[in-house]
Amino acid sequence: MSLKNTGDYAVMLENVQKTFDGKEFVLKGIDLKIPKGSLTSIIGFSGTGKSVMLKHMLGLFKPTSGKVTVLGTDISTLDENALTKFRCNYGVLFQSAALFDDMTVLENVCFPLEEHRRELSKEQVIQIALQKLKMVGLDPKHNEKLPSQISGGMQKRTGLARALALDPEILIYDEPTTGLDPILTEMVDNLIVETHQARPGTTSIMVSHNLQAAFRIADFVVMLDSGKVLLAGTPEDFYKTDIELVRRFVDKGIKHQ
Ligand SMILES: Nc1ncnc2c1ncn2[C@@H]1O[C@H](COP(=O)(O)OP(=O)(O)OP(=O)(O)O)[C@@H](O)[C@H]1O
Ligand SMILES: [Mg+2]
Repeated sequence: MSLKNTGDYAVMLENVQKTFDGKEFVLKGIDLKIPKGSLTSIIGFSGTGKSVMLKHMLGLFKPTSGKVTVLGTDISTLDENALTKFRCNYGVLFQSAALFDDMTVLENVCFPLEEHRRELSKEQVIQIALQKLKMVGLDPKHNEKLPSQISGGMQKRTGLARALALDPEILIYDEPTTGLDPILTEMVDNLIVETHQARPGTTSIMVSHNLQAAFRIADFVVMLDSGKVLLAGTPEDFYKTDIELVRRFVDKGIKHQ
């Protein structure tokens, strides 16, 4: 990969440091460039700062020092209003699909469109939502059901359809498969890849505990350790690295899954 222009990166973190209590630093100077169009996996031990780093990319946390640039915009300069608008560039799927319990599947997917695309008619909103539900392979017979009336896998599909509603440039997943059985895990992993491939040029960023999947589906991998980037590169770079901690983590993770 030869990337030189800053426009080639979806997300750039420059010397990002974060402390919540003014004493202990959770992020200790992160330098990271995530290539535009990549499917990037973020891996590392528990408590190492992966979710905190994702929240910086989303503008949910502000760095104590350093700079976060997303799609060419320094997001630390945006006020709350501008940030809310800017967030249309992201689709987010966390571990729990976080659907609204009292809304049907279809209403859940319509929601971001009703919030952010006020110029659309009700009919247009529904058409777009139906198209996203089709894209994630959810049978239309479930559209009028509540989240509690569908399976975990269908909830994930609904959550992904909702994340896709605004055609975001960047899709962010935090532990999308943690706690799922192996069959469902494979289904969600495949869905992530298919969704990524169906939207050329867009960027997918996934935090994953499932190393096998992280290496199988990603074209760019980032390993964090104690609030720093230990290695960022292609899966190949990881297989041939001499960094002992990366070797141990990767060998163990792949052998034990
Ligand atoms: N809002 C917060 N306030 C204070 N400390 C926080 C906050 N969010 C996270 N932390 C701390 O930051 C550190 C990193 O947490 P983070 O959630 O990023 O870990 P992680 O790498 O995502 O771990 P896991 O793999 O278990 O999800 C932890 O020590 C955590 O306690
Ligand atoms: Mg986490």
